[in-house]
Amino acid sequence: MQSPLSDNLGQTGFTTALLEWFAAYGRELPWRGIGDPYGIWVSEVILQQTRIEQGRDYWLRFMAAFPTVEALAEASEDEVLRLWQGLGYYSRARNMHAAARQVVEQGGFPHTIEGLRALKGVGDYTAAAVGSMAFGLPAAAVDGNVYRVLARHYGIDVPINTTRGKRTFEALAQELLPHDNASAFNQAMMDFGATWCTPRSPRCIDCPVADTCDALRTGRVNLLPVKEKKLKIQERRFTYIYIRHEGQTALHRRPAGDIWQGLWEPLFVENAPLPDLGCPLTLLASGVKHVLTHRILLADFYLAEPTEKPVLPADYIWVNEQDIDYYALPRLIERLLEKL
Ligand code: ADE
Repeated sequence: MQSPLSDNLGQTGFTTALLEWFAAYGRELPWRGIGDPYGIWVSEVILQQTRIEQGRDYWLRFMAAFPTVEALAEASEDEVLRLWQGLGYYSRARNMHAAARQVVEQGGFPHTIEGLRALKGVGDYTAAAVGSMAFGLPAAAVDGNVYRVLARHYGIDVPINTTRGKRTFEALAQELLPHDNASAFNQAMMDFGATWCTPRSPRCIDCPVADTCDALRTGRVNLLPVKEKKLKIQERRFTYIYIRHEGQTALHRRPAGDIWQGLWEPLFVENAPLPDLGCPLTLLASGVKHVLTHRILLADFYLAEPTEKPVLPADYIWVNEQDIDYYALPRLIERLLEKL
């Protein structure tokens, strides 16, 4: 990674270039330059999950209905939600309504990052955005656009969706932030990321910081920023029925394409009703938790003792109960057999 200190343009070269770019190409947005913390905050909450084109109309309607934080605080939740209709993520509107009441109770908007951060629904990003734009606080607001611009320009491949990534990019943004012009710099970074340094077709040809862009120099514009693939922990509910019939039990081999391929297990049921084996089922254990690398299994274990040998799917075989140890069993099945 190229440190901002070794930036060819000098320490503030990147910052200066971005501010100049913003003066020429920054977007005209209705909440820009109003200086009103309430209007700025409303815009930031709307834009958290909504694109600017759609957010602009909502902001205008919202501000017409509730022009001040007092008006919002006095409104009913129903009125607020009705105006929010279509934007989705309704907890945003509910939090905003609750935060408006906090602000009114406190006698106005807090003027510190910590104070803003204490409002319902306000996180690091929103506190820095509102704090810098409304009060000139020197706090870098790091959103998805900022991650992308910095990852490319400084050639940083630390995944942005990790704690280390968040720390790295926030520290760098803070280092680059001109303390006397935090508002313009934060908005410059957002606009530049949204309109120039875009995810798929960045305008490197007429980029104001192309000369010092590490990703451009090393051919990694399309490879940065890096996101770590988060494997979703999947929860599965397994049911096993241990059938006991004349000293024998039924096992089958687990098929390919799933966990425990080739290992043996008793009658297995997943996402299906329990089969009729012609006898009652005795529950031996319920919700037994078994943790694998990317899965959590919850297993129910039943005993069935039919008088007639039940007909089972073709891949099941009958084995003598005392021979069961000769079969390779998953650890979960061993745990269940201990319950017998
Ligand atoms: N996205 C969220 N807030 C923004 C702002 N103030 N300017 C540009 N894009 C934004």
